[in-house]
Amino acid sequence: MIDTKLLSDNEEDLKISAEFLKNGEIVGMPTETVYGLAADACNPEAVAKIFEAKGRPSDNPLIVHIADIEKLSEIAYNIPDLAYRLAEAFWPGPLTMILPKKDCIPSITSGGLDTVGVRMPSHIVARKMISYSGLPIAAPSGNISGYPSPTKASHMMRDMYGKIPAVVDGGTCSVGVESTVISFENDNTVRILRPGYITKEDLQKIADNVIIDSAILEKLSDGQIVRSPGMKYKHYSPSADVILIDSNYKDFCCYVNNHSKENTYALVFNGEGSNLSVPFFAYGANGAEQAHEIFSLLRKLDDINADTVYVRIPSKDGVGLAVYNRLIRAAGFEVIKL
Ligand code: TXA
Ligand code: MG
Repeated sequence: MIDTKLLSDNEEDLKISAEFLKNGEIVGMPTETVYGLAADACNPEAVAKIFEAKGRPSDNPLIVHIADIEKLSEIAYNIPDLAYRLAEAFWPGPLTMILPKKDCIPSITSGGLDTVGVRMPSHIVARKMISYSGLPIAAPSGNISGYPSPTKASHMMRDMYGKIPAVVDGGTCSVGVESTVISFENDNTVRILRPGYITKEDLQKIADNVIIDSAILEKLSDGQIVRSPGMKYKHYSPSADVILIDSNYKDFCCYVNNHSKENTYALVFNGEGSNLSVPFFAYGANGAEQAHEIFSLLRKLDDINADTVYVRIPSKDGVGLAVYNRLIRAAGFEVIKL
């Protein structure tokens, strides 16, 4: 078993992390969204280690991270003008664009697809790790496949200790949910394949048409087109049963109080909870606050051996859609409507 080092964000440690990347090793990398498992995107052996460490299905492609816009055309081609306009508005930041891939991106990185998801993170530590390595960096979220994404270095250490040589500690991720993933339908239409901090309304300021893929809100039906392999897999699940309740606060409290057993918990909005007979955590007052808290809370509920967690359903507006999308997957698409 490897003794995983916890590196700091000082220059010396960042250079060590870049050496690991240049040598085909994988390193835990902080970004503004969630921590990622970083490796040289063009090195198939290095990328294979990512799939192994996460236990990730081989057909689920990885996002490639760059620190300079010039690198975009080195890994992708047929880049529409709209992609450059979106990059100007939202990069560096939590937006991933799916584009046709160049041959330097091996098929293991793209999960066998002929496209690649590209993102330029804004976190200063990620930017330095990418620049110092001089490489395009493949990085999925750093969790074990199916588990909530890591938003702190301690989460990464918990999931990856003994499997990878190092994790760089860049503090708590400011956004807290993964990037918005989009594909291009034509010169002025984009499709959201995974909602994130960059919302439909944000994208509409640059693109004429923004489509929300139906798989974001509902379980895939038999034969439905899967535009992003990640849509197929169970996601973000702690060991506890997560149950979303669509109701007002009063009915939520009645339901939870009547159904509480041992190790039952509730996730409520800020300021709520005093009418509950079960222990509860508040997960924010708006979409952005909820995004910041949600994965950390799902992990905490596992640490305290929660069996059942009843959750106040978030709004689907703005950043709330990203929170709703993660929670509905954590809940196996089960919503109780009162
Ligand atoms: O914020 C983020 O995006 C984080 C940080 C580390 O950058 N990364 C991340 O990666 O969330 P991952 O691998 O956990 O999620 C990537 C998602 C998956 O659902 C995958 O199926 C989809 O993006 N994806 C990646 N490349 C794709 C492609 N070429 N076509 C369609 N979907 C793609
Ligand atoms: Mg992930």
